Amino acid sequence: MCGILGYSGDRQASDILLAGLARLEYRGYDSAGIAALDSGTIKIAKNKGRLKVLEDRINAGDKVPGTCGIGHTRWATHGAPSDVNAHPLWSDDMAVVAVHNGIVENYREIREMLAKHGYTFYSQTDTEAAVKLIDYYYKQEKSPLKAITRAIKDIQGSYCFVMLFKDCPNEVWGARKDLPLIAGQGEGESFLASDVSAILQETRQVYYLDNMEIVQLKKGDVRFFDGEGYATIKEITEVTWDSNAAEKGGFDHFMMKEMYEQARAVKDTFGAVYHSGKIELTEHGLTDEAIKDISQIYIIACGSAYHAGAVAQYVIEDLAGIPVRIDTASEFRYRNMPMDKKALAVIISQSGETADTLAAMRRAKENGIKTLAIVNVVGSTIAREADSVFYTMAGPEIAVATTKAYSAQLIACYAIALKFAHVRGKIDDAECERLIAEIQKLPEKIDDILDAKDVLQEIAKKFTRSKNAFYLGRNIDYAVAMEGSLKMKEISYLHSEAIAAGEMKHGPISLIEKGMLVAGIMTQKELCKKTASNMLESKSRGGYLLIVAMKGCDALKDEADFVFTIPETDEHFAASLAVIPLQLLGYYVAVARKLDVDKPRNLAKSVTVE
Ligand code: F6R
Repeated sequence: MCGILGYSGDRQASDILLAGLARLEYRGYDSAGIAALDSGTIKIAKNKGRLKVLEDRINAGDKVPGTCGIGHTRWATHGAPSDVNAHPLWSDDMAVVAVHNGIVENYREIREMLAKHGYTFYSQTDTEAAVKLIDYYYKQEKSPLKAITRAIKDIQGSYCFVMLFKDCPNEVWGARKDLPLIAGQGEGESFLASDVSAILQETRQVYYLDNMEIVQLKKGDVRFFDGEGYATIKEITEVTWDSNAAEKGGFDHFMMKEMYEQARAVKDTFGAVYHSGKIELTEHGLTDEAIKDISQIYIIACGSAYHAGAVAQYVIEDLAGIPVRIDTASEFRYRNMPMDKKALAVIISQSGETADTLAAMRRAKENGIKTLAIVNVVGSTIAREADSVFYTMAGPEIAVATTKAYSAQLIACYAIALKFAHVRGKIDDAECERLIAEIQKLPEKIDDILDAKDVLQEIAKKFTRSKNAFYLGRNIDYAVAMEGSLKMKEISYLHSEAIAAGEMKHGPISLIEKGMLVAGIMTQKELCKKTASNMLESKSRGGYLLIVAMKGCDALKDEADFVFTIPETDEHFAASLAVIPLQLLGYYVAVARKLDVDKPRNLAKSVTVE
């Protein structure tokens, strides 16, 4: 997500903050800001756009003096990129100034509560609600520690806050839940950072904060407290990574780092629409009346986003009983089809800038079709032009091959499917609650699969010299096969095709050769046996059968060459788990082939030309 820094010492904070934020630029951001405390006054400078713009505006820091300060690079989630929404954000009398990573899920409730006590709001951010909540408790408690402990009990979601209190000279405070925060120890000075790479130039002696832990910096003095405000003792760690490895959080590639961010992305994306026990899509233009009125859904996207849409097609049709038509954007934009004015067009895009997707969305709008965009980048063109937007909360994705954005897109689609099913009377309250509980269990299961990655690394070695692969499945498993196959071809350059398993004998089976990878996805119990017979036909022609099966789908457990079992979930959501071993397989084949995993040849992260 965003980049965060804090400093307390004898040097000018702005020097440390600007240099540290520059080391976080690689993550992508849309705004930057710093604040410093000097003789009881906090000065803030922030703007939309590059860090260089900020640096020039404040004359490399001269205009923000002080030896204790905080800094931020923002990746917008709530509120478009703008000067006012950039961090730091402040309380009305500037008693509390803070930067924030993550999402305050209950910011609306907090705003409502604070409004009753006279607070007003100047930004569209969730962060401002949190800053003012801390201020509200600070006014009562007169202690930063007590104010923070009370506020974090109220705040739902994931966060990392770094704060200045106007009346507390030399002090920087931090708190975290589900997002990283690291404290660095120097000689007579100390640091806070969301990412160790930001402070590695300054110190290699760091403390990793635990969940719900609070930290106080006061020059070289670093203190820790638990969520109740009791002092805790932490062990210092020496960072041995070089700065290159540190940017990747110790992983060899951004792609692996981002695969590990999937659980968080899934949780935050669902958390963004799940409030007080209900999925809430009114802000996305989907009131109950609007949902009942929609006659069909067109899903439009490219690449992996299209594959997420392919999963959605099966899930929405099965759960909500509404017809769904899916098209690649490059086809939709030129098709001369009669369009149904009561349809809803769901546009899926990580970047929000893909040229074909944008053109297809404009085409739908010209034809009077309502558009809902599922987008990761706040303020992107598709997000701005769509009638309404459902932001996925994946955070910036650096590896060209998408992983966490795809996983977040799936969750957005599940939320839409469940809401439609419930509002249109296809599932009752109890079934809706059961399915929501299944979605909420996905993050833990995703992490369990990632923890078993070594076995896929071993298997991947078998395919270092392979030329071709097939990925087979039916229904949702076919949609997952498409994404697994794309992951393989785009980063490992191994030619791979996804085939609806029933199509094998209509042609593709003639391509099977001895040792060829034939990956079968089997999560849909009713269809497993059918896919199994297609897989066996491949085996008898020499194929190497690799199965990704959900617990209970053990049709080929004796015949397959290798079976990777994923935890059980409701079959509608199985794609979220089945895709993980396939991402890992593509990754490890690319690594074994010594390829540039994060920047595959001929590909760009954002395809802004036709
Ligand atoms: C594959 C991948 C691409 C994108 C596609 C659409 O790993 O990342 O296939 O999914 O280019 O991009 P967005 O989602 O930005 O519209």
